[in-house]
Amino acid sequence: MTLKILQFGTTGQLATELLRQAPAHDVAITALSRADCDLADPEAAARKVVEIAPDLVVIAAAYTAVDLAETEQDLARAINAAAPGAIARACASSGAALVNISTDYVFDGAGGAPYAEDAATHPLNIYGLTKLEGERAVLAACDRAVNIRTSWVVSAHGKNFVKTMLRVGAAGNPLRVVDDQRGRPTSAADLAGFILSQAERLAAAKAGDPAFGTLHFANSGEVSWRGLAVAIFAEAMGDNAPEVAAITTAEYPVPAARPLRATMDTTRLQQVFGITPRPWQAALSDILTELKG
Ligand SMILES: NC(=O)c1ccc[n+]([C@@H]2O[C@H](COP(=O)([O-])OP(=O)(O)OC[C@H]3O[C@@H](n4cnc5c(N)ncnc54)[C@H](OP(=O)(O)O)[C@@H]3O)[C@@H](O)[C@H]2O)c1
Repeated sequence: MTLKILQFGTTGQLATELLRQAPAHDVAITALSRADCDLADPEAAARKVVEIAPDLVVIAAAYTAVDLAETEQDLARAINAAAPGAIARACASSGAALVNISTDYVFDGAGGAPYAEDAATHPLNIYGLTKLEGERAVLAACDRAVNIRTSWVVSAHGKNFVKTMLRVGAAGNPLRVVDDQRGRPTSAADLAGFILSQAERLAAAKAGDPAFGTLHFANSGEVSWRGLAVAIFAEAMGDNAPEVAAITTAEYPVPAARPLRATMDTTRLQQVFGITPRPWQAALSDILTELKG
C-alpha cells in the first residue's frame, strides 16, 4: 500500500531531493512550504500532522543560517527545537513515525572524533544548540522517531559550499579557504535516498525498534574545507583551477564558532540498516556532473 508521507519543507537541499526521488518509491508525499506552514508557529505545524494523518513525517525544513542564528536565537529555537517537539507530540498522538534531521554541530569537535551517536554533545553555537534541543524534544515526545544527524550537506540545488566555491572561483583569482576544520561532506541526494528507502520500515516499526533513536548519516571519508574546494576546482575547472591557500579558522572570523573536527562515526547505520554510504568524492562528482548540465 502506498505510504503516506508528510514532509515539512519544499525548497531546501534535502526537501528538493526527497521530492525528486519520491516517484521511484511507493510513497505519496504531501510537502508543505513555508507559505503552507511556517515552522516559527510550532502549533500550526502540529495541527498539519493531525489534519493530514500521514504514516510518516519528515522534517526537511530548518533554520540553517548558522551565523545569523547567533542574533536570531528565539526564531532559530522556535523552528529547530519547538517545532520538531510539537510535531513529535502530534505524531505520538496520531500514530505517525517521525524523521527529524539534525547536525554534527551538536559536537564541539575538540577531540574524540569520529563521534558515535551516544558521544557527549556540546554545541559551540546557537544553531547547534537549538538542533540539540530539537533532538531532545523529539525523543521525549515520540517513541517512534529518529533524529538523523548529518554534516556538510551539498547538492546541485540551493545554497551550499560547492555552489559557493564554483561562483567565487569562476574568475580564476587565488582564494583563501579554511583548512583546520574537517568534516564529512554529505550529498542531500544520498540522504534523501536513504530516508525514502527506509520509509516503509520506519512507518511499520514499533517503539523500541533500533531504527528509532539517534542515527548518523554522512558520506564516507573526511576532508577540510580547503581540501573540498581543491577537489571541486580540480574536477570542475581542471587546468584553470584557482590557487587555494590554506588559512586557519582564526583567520576567517565569523559570528558563530564552528567545531574543528566533529566528524561522525556511521557504524550504527551499517549495523541497523546495512548501509555504508559511498565516499564523498563520488557524491561530489555526481553533483558537479549535474551542475554542468
Ligand atoms: N546544510 C548543511 O550543511 C547541514 C549540515 C548538517 C545538518 N543539516 C540539517 O539538514 C536539514 C536539511 O538541510 P538543508 O541543507 O536541506 O537546508 P536548506 O537547504 O538550508 O533549506 C532549509 C529549508 O527550511 C525551510 N525553512 C526555513 N525556515 C522555515 C520556516 N520558518 N518555516 C518553514 N520552512 C522553513 C526553507 O524554506 P524557504 O525556502 O522558504 O526559506 C528551506 O526549504 C536541516 O535540518 C539542517 O539543519 C544541514
